[in-house]
Amino acid sequence: MTERDITLVVNGTEHELTVEPRTLLVHALRDHLGYTGPKIGCESTVCGACTVSVDDDPVKSCTLLAVQADGAEITTVAGLTTADSLHPLQQQFREEHGLQCGYCTPGMVLTSLDFLSDNPEPSRTEIRAALKGNLCRCTGYQNIVDAVESAAEDIPDHESW
Ligand code: FES
Ligand code: FES
Repeated sequence: MTERDITLVVNGTEHELTVEPRTLLVHALRDHLGYTGPKIGCESTVCGACTVSVDDDPVKSCTLLAVQADGAEITTVAGLTTADSLHPLQQQFREEHGLQCGYCTPGMVLTSLDFLSDNPEPSRTEIRAALKGNLCRCTGYQNIVDAVESAAEDIPDHESW
């Protein structure tokens, strides 16, 4: 199979890599580049554990071929953290106990980030609807919804996201 040279900008760092055309973006990120934020769950677009931001849109990276993301700017959950602080969404997941094993958390955070940028004052029903493509086996979702709701209420920080 003919390999392809592609470029991915991940969390602000440009990477050139060579992949097979069949390589999924999640495997390029994890196995080729060492970004372990996106998790591999179902590999069939169901669970959302692999969600990353691709050119500012949340994308399930098991659904996209790496070659399709050639030239894209990608943000993983680690890219939201600065040297001295967590992103407000990460902070609220921590404070509201919105995770147990944490496997779903990167996808939950990145999906919520995009959702709140479009809807900064959501209802709990809207939060639940926004996260319907992200599955959690641990929390029962209540604390995840609490975390997103609290982050949305954190208006001063929210304006600077
Ligand atoms: S691993 Fe991608 S949606 Fe489940
Ligand atoms: S915290 Fe374990 S899957 Fe969500």
